[in-house]
Amino acid sequence: MYLKNTWYVACMPDELEGKPLGRQVCGEKIVFFRGPDGQVAAVEDFCPHRGAPLSLGFMRDGHLVCGYHGLTIGGDGRCASMPGLRIDGVSAIRRVPEIRRFPVIERYGFVWVWTGDVELADPGKLHHLAWAEDANWAYGGGLYHVNCDYRLMIDNLMDLTHETYVHASSIGQPEIEDAAPTTRVDGDHVITSRFMENIKPPPFWATALRGNGLADDVPCDRWQICRFTPPSHVMIDVGVAHAGHGGFDADPQHRAGSIVVDFITPESDTSIWYFWGMARNFKPEDTELTARIREGQAKIFSEDLEILEAQQRNLLANPGRKILNLNIDAGGVRSRRILERLLEDEQRERAALRETQETSDA
Ligand code: FES
Ligand SMILES: [Fe+2]
Repeated sequence: MYLKNTWYVACMPDELEGKPLGRQVCGEKIVFFRGPDGQVAAVEDFCPHRGAPLSLGFMRDGHLVCGYHGLTIGGDGRCASMPGLRIDGVSAIRRVPEIRRFPVIERYGFVWVWTGDVELADPGKLHHLAWAEDANWAYGGGLYHVNCDYRLMIDNLMDLTHETYVHASSIGQPEIEDAAPTTRVDGDHVITSRFMENIKPPPFWATALRGNGLADDVPCDRWQICRFTPPSHVMIDVGVAHAGHGGFDADPQHRAGSIVVDFITPESDTSIWYFWGMARNFKPEDTELTARIREGQAKIFSEDLEILEAQQRNLLANPGRKILNLNIDAGGVRSRRILERLLEDEQRERAALRETQETSDA
């Protein structure tokens, strides 16, 4: 179960270059494309003529052309033209039923979609990303398709104890287990923090220190501050600073820190589109460093993918089995509780909307 009256990242702008993109989000098969004015549009991936997926078509003058018989659809879900569609010699375009459109917003380097009630789509509810609009920050990231429930990925990101085992050669280190995480809830947000002092920076962070022109062979303080925001965004402050300079609060000349960016978009109950990346505010102009960090992160996150898919298969094969909630799982457990509450709220909100619509239709 996932929230629908909310904004999810649907795709990255470069996925829409010159062609439509078919993508299932929250169980809805959607086709995304750029209209004649360059604005991104999203409609259901179903041609009103004979039901072919519109995403198999192509773009012509900003209109989406169905690849089967050439029906053309605009961003409003209306048919704009159809070869040979004439009744008694007169164009009958208006007789083609309108298809469902989905609200979309392109912002912060992502395309966001609202798969719930159009009437409730509120651009003001878009997750604000200050770093995405700040020239002092650089971002590099990618996309993985993962066959798992989106909540398994939230659990994974809200408990970084797994780094020692899953990412042993890059960001894992035994000191992670010795530093107990603390979890707190702030409204609809969950924050799980872990701090380590006087440790050796693991390989990924040693590279980042060098990338920022800092020594990588001195003791460091390390931090991991995981922040969950509904519906499924997890931003993690991570980094190291030369020991004794204040850790997370150290002056920029002593630290290498970043925000791990995770947008988890449900595709179905057991699969996700995982938009991952890293935003950093040191050496933002160094595109080579951005590429190197991205490459390191891609490898690390592919390790999560393997374990999460195997975990999902095991859970599906053992539906009655109980799993444990230990202290390290507090971040994921609290996040799930917030989601459960919001899902109940959303169901009530949707029922009220239906009632109003039925009353006004009567
Ligand atoms: S199915 Fe799309 S034009 Fe015929
Ligand atoms: Fe991981």
